[in-house]
Amino acid sequence: MPGVLLGDVFPNFEAETTIGRIKFHNFLEDSWGILFSHPRDFTPVCTTELACAAGITDEFKKRGVKMIALSIDSVEDHTNWSKDVMAFNGETGTPLPFPIIADDKRLLSVQLGMLDPDEIDKDGMPLTARCVFVIGPDKKLKLSILYPATTGRNFDELLRVIDSLQLTAQKKVATPVNWKPGDKVMVIPSLSEAEATALFPNGVTCKELPSGKKYLRFTQP
Ligand code: BEZ
Repeated sequence: MPGVLLGDVFPNFEAETTIGRIKFHNFLEDSWGILFSHPRDFTPVCTTELACAAGITDEFKKRGVKMIALSIDSVEDHTNWSKDVMAFNGETGTPLPFPIIADDKRLLSVQLGMLDPDEIDKDGMPLTARCVFVIGPDKKLKLSILYPATTGRNFDELLRVIDSLQLTAQKKVATPVNWKPGDKVMVIPSLSEAEATALFPNGVTCKELPSGKKYLRFTQP
């Protein structure tokens, strides 16, 4: 089955993009990366998504995350579409601040398991779904999310999950439901009470539960 699983080294594919031919790992250098795919150029939902992504590039930069988009049209189409995207943002003449991969032969879309069988173009070919891949500095896949073509993504949520991924890559914690930066986090279950006390100088509070089990442990990272 095509696709990439969590923990896999992300394929070091070569592709044509709006900034020329790239080799993916060289493009990423030592940064985190986010690759988001789009069903097609010059489509409404995709345009709003790319415009939103362009508007918050500083947020990705702050987190050390390199952005790259993908769609199944040509570099020429991508370049023309980018002008619409930036105009939609009220920034006519400003270049799109990240590249778009031209997967016009759908080779990457097949390799990465990105095709949406429910969305067929006028030639009967499937379009790409809205995939999100977050890749760590070790080039391994840290997160993937898959939306159908008909549902636009929430880029605030993508920033939130990147904050969680970057925090949990450094500390032995996990982020609870609806967590946002600054909130308390959970101590991971594999840490003993003694290890948790030593690791978290801000203290660990444990919620009493009917089971008597001491697994709901909060700390301020
Ligand atoms: C869109 O981006 O608006 C879109 C693309 C393909 C199918 C449905 C919506």
